[in-house]
Amino acid sequence: MPKKERMLITGGNALEGEVRVSGGKNTAVAVIPAALLADEPCTIENLPDIEDVHALVDILRSLGAKVTYVPDEFMTIDPRPAESHKVGFQQARRLRASYYLLGALLGRCGRAMVAAPGGCEIGSRPIDQHLKGFQALGAEAEERGGMIIVEADELRGSDVFFDMVTVGGTINVMLAAAKAKGTTVIYNAAKEPHIVDLANFLNSMGAKVKGAGTDVIRIRGQQYLHGANYAVIPDQIETGTLMIAAAATRGDVIIRGCIPTHMEALTAKLLEMGIKVSDSDDAIRVRTLGAHRAVNIKTQVYPGFPTDLQQPMSALLTTARGTSVITETIFEQRFKHLDEIRRMGARIRVVDRVAMIEGVPQLYGAPVTTTDLRAGAALIVAGLMARGVTEIYEPEYIDRGYEHIEEKLRSLGAEIRRETIE
Ligand code: EPZ
Repeated sequence: MPKKERMLITGGNALEGEVRVSGGKNTAVAVIPAALLADEPCTIENLPDIEDVHALVDILRSLGAKVTYVPDEFMTIDPRPAESHKVGFQQARRLRASYYLLGALLGRCGRAMVAAPGGCEIGSRPIDQHLKGFQALGAEAEERGGMIIVEADELRGSDVFFDMVTVGGTINVMLAAAKAKGTTVIYNAAKEPHIVDLANFLNSMGAKVKGAGTDVIRIRGQQYLHGANYAVIPDQIETGTLMIAAAATRGDVIIRGCIPTHMEALTAKLLEMGIKVSDSDDAIRVRTLGAHRAVNIKTQVYPGFPTDLQQPMSALLTTARGTSVITETIFEQRFKHLDEIRRMGARIRVVDRVAMIEGVPQLYGAPVTTTDLRAGAALIVAGLMARGVTEIYEPEYIDRGYEHIEEKLRSLGAEIRRETIE
């Protein structure tokens, strides 16, 4: 029985100092499967040492690939010995993005069987657009007995029109198209930084991907993809979470190793709140002087305000002067964390996809439960700014996407630790 843990935070310390952000989770979970498309070994650096990465190492090994992984150093993937195209339920359920193995295996060997991803706390999260993309490339796609099965005698490049902007759908079609015969054009493509990072990794293997970062991506399939050495970009959402935590504790923090241009939507909102944000080419400094003003947030696809930062941001807004309104346009149920933050004294009303947060003078520590990864980040921010002790239960959700988060926050002066619950 895995041991149960809880995180304990004694709030009220202003975070001060410098912290280095880790490599991106959402880029890592796309780039690691992409290495299966190569015909030679690839080495990837700057990968975050998080549960999602560990799960992918196990999945690639179960497929037969040779993986050498030194956490916080490098991962070398030699896909040549991989014979299997199946990822079972026990493996696939460990991370949501296991569905990228569909595109990678389809591109590598023309077939894939991967256990269907479950819904989760933020919505049903169907993958109909992913399957529509595979079918456009000539694959048969069906769901049988909880397994997604895709196969194609020959993948042929084609036009793919997504009904809505989908990060996962865009990534999965890029993976399948990299070795298809002919050219694939993805219309209405997602433009997130990790889409561009995946395109750069594929091109470093000799793929021909153009237009990543715009809403039209062209992929000219290649027969052979050579090995590559690549370092993934820093984590946009961890950077944003640390910026929000610095502001929430009225601290003064420099976040190093980040890409400030990826943070512009959040930076604009923090400035609107009266928070001081300044940046250089690879660092952002967040300071707070005086009261925070309430602001309105509407989550959008990149480069709009990221839905993944909506949750930590909602914690920060609980003590802003005035009433803030958050509209969540991407997922249908991404407010579960607000029930927990209410237990800490926040004044919040939710109607459908709109949360109205009326600023209160102070939050107070309380026992709270994590419901999903970014909800956990929101509870950490709330705990850091609350008076007294906050106990966060189910902290393992947080380990999926934040590398060594307690150590990073402790290095900035936070009183945060984890203990086993008998
Ligand atoms: C990715 O999820 C991220 N996950 C999410 O981050 C992030 O919130 C999301 O993109 C939006 O930025 C990874 O990258 C591993 P979508 P994804 O496909 O790809 C609907 C985190 O905390 N949709 O862009 O699943 C879908 O239900 C996670 O790191 C369909 O209807 O997001 C959602 O409402 C949480 N059919 C919307 O589109 C489909 O086939 C956007 O989803 C695909 C998506």
